[in-house]
Amino acid sequence: MMQVPNPVPARPDLPQPGLIDALARRLGPRGLLTDPADIAPFSTDWRRLYQGRSVALLRPADTEELADCVRLCAAAGVALVPQGGNTSMVGGAVPPEDGSALLLSLARMNRVRALDPVDMTLTIEAGATLKAAQEAAAAADCLLPLSIASEGSAQIGGVLSTNAGGNNTVRYGNARERVLGLEVVLPDGQVWNGLRRLRKDNTGYCLRQLFVGAEGTLGVITAAVLALAPRPRQMEVAFCALPDAEAALALFTRLRRADPAAVNAFEYMSPIGLELVLKHIPETTLPLAAPPGSHFALIELATPRPGADLRASLESALEAALSEGLITDAAIAASEAQRRAMWKLREEHAEAQKRDGASVKNDISVPVSLVPTFLREATAACQALVAGVRVLAFGHMGDGNIHFNCQQPEAMAAAEFLAYDHAIMAAVNDIVRRLDGSFSAEHGVGRLKTYLMQGWRGGAELELMRRIKHAIDPRGLLNPGKLLP
Ligand code: MLT
Ligand code: ZN
Repeated sequence: MMQVPNPVPARPDLPQPGLIDALARRLGPRGLLTDPADIAPFSTDWRRLYQGRSVALLRPADTEELADCVRLCAAAGVALVPQGGNTSMVGGAVPPEDGSALLLSLARMNRVRALDPVDMTLTIEAGATLKAAQEAAAAADCLLPLSIASEGSAQIGGVLSTNAGGNNTVRYGNARERVLGLEVVLPDGQVWNGLRRLRKDNTGYCLRQLFVGAEGTLGVITAAVLALAPRPRQMEVAFCALPDAEAALALFTRLRRADPAAVNAFEYMSPIGLELVLKHIPETTLPLAAPPGSHFALIELATPRPGADLRASLESALEAALSEGLITDAAIAASEAQRRAMWKLREEHAEAQKRDGASVKNDISVPVSLVPTFLREATAACQALVAGVRVLAFGHMGDGNIHFNCQQPEAMAAAEFLAYDHAIMAAVNDIVRRLDGSFSAEHGVGRLKTYLMQGWRGGAELELMRRIKHAIDPRGLLNPGKLLP
């Protein structure tokens, strides 16, 4: 394949006062922040891995304002870093350290533009939080089947730009599968209005899917049409203690065979993860008896069918699993409050880990059948590398995506442990590669993993990505330093 030049310029132009003045005139006082204290929270990432710098944060109120900002910046040769809820785990929305880029927040663009319960579509702006989008769908008796731990802060634009996965991928697929239409501001300021709400639309290249998962490097998603699903009429959540990950996989297989359309989520948690949640997160308790060293699974079954008896099928599956030794105990939530409490035990893993100290995260996927093999081999590899490392493996076992996160040994300083980050990632990724998995399952590549792209996606695949980037953003002005090495 023909080589194209790397589109990222060696050094983008620095923003000059004339540009900031022009942006201020276009955006008005609510639309532009220049006080470093106001910008500081947007210049670092949730994990505090990066400390970027930007002289201004743009907060346009609508697509026209945003497009004008992009046009002004493009004319000045200045880069932009689009930012949603700033919940990236891979530094996907931090500005570069040299102050060369301006931050572009979508937070004010958070309106529901349309909701059609017959078409079952939600047209919503990129700055709405995922939770707000779920609530809008629920108000029309529909379901937006996308759920992630950070949904209270994560915004639709970021969720789509990273093709987020989360808890319900096992049943509904990733964010990509929800997208029927998009509105995107291109790097030259042109607006592409592709907000169609059609289920069939075969008209050439599927452009909207190009922007989903592009991590803001090809255009700024400003609004989307999302496909909704029927709202579940019955839901059951159970929390189980298991002897090991093999048992968890066997339980998942059994549940899926019993009623393939009912498994909404199947989440796995290793012993240490739960220990840290119970230690650091207030108002958390284990709803069952679990021998020391237990592994855990959270099961969510749901159906929109009115007559089904999910409770009975869950109870009989768990009874059978208990008698076969696949589980040692289980609790079924008897109320919405209990359901929430069980989900809290799972969803607070990232927060508990953050409170406990330094960690090295590996957001990986392998074929579902190989999850236990992966866990066994990767745990041994990390323990051989760093004595005393605490492996917190948890996540979406039902779709093969495990957050294989390593926590600093209790007796080791954070900085000493973090010096092992590339070595740990290399050891884990060697196993992932052998098992035909991916080094980046649902969090994206961001800034953290760009150095891995050459080794994993080199050759024709990376070359094709570079050509696409070059065709759409030849000067590399959108989200520089992310995704592509
Ligand atoms: C989750 O599923 O909770 C996350 O994606 C978190 C993480 O990797 O820490
Ligand atoms: Zn996850």
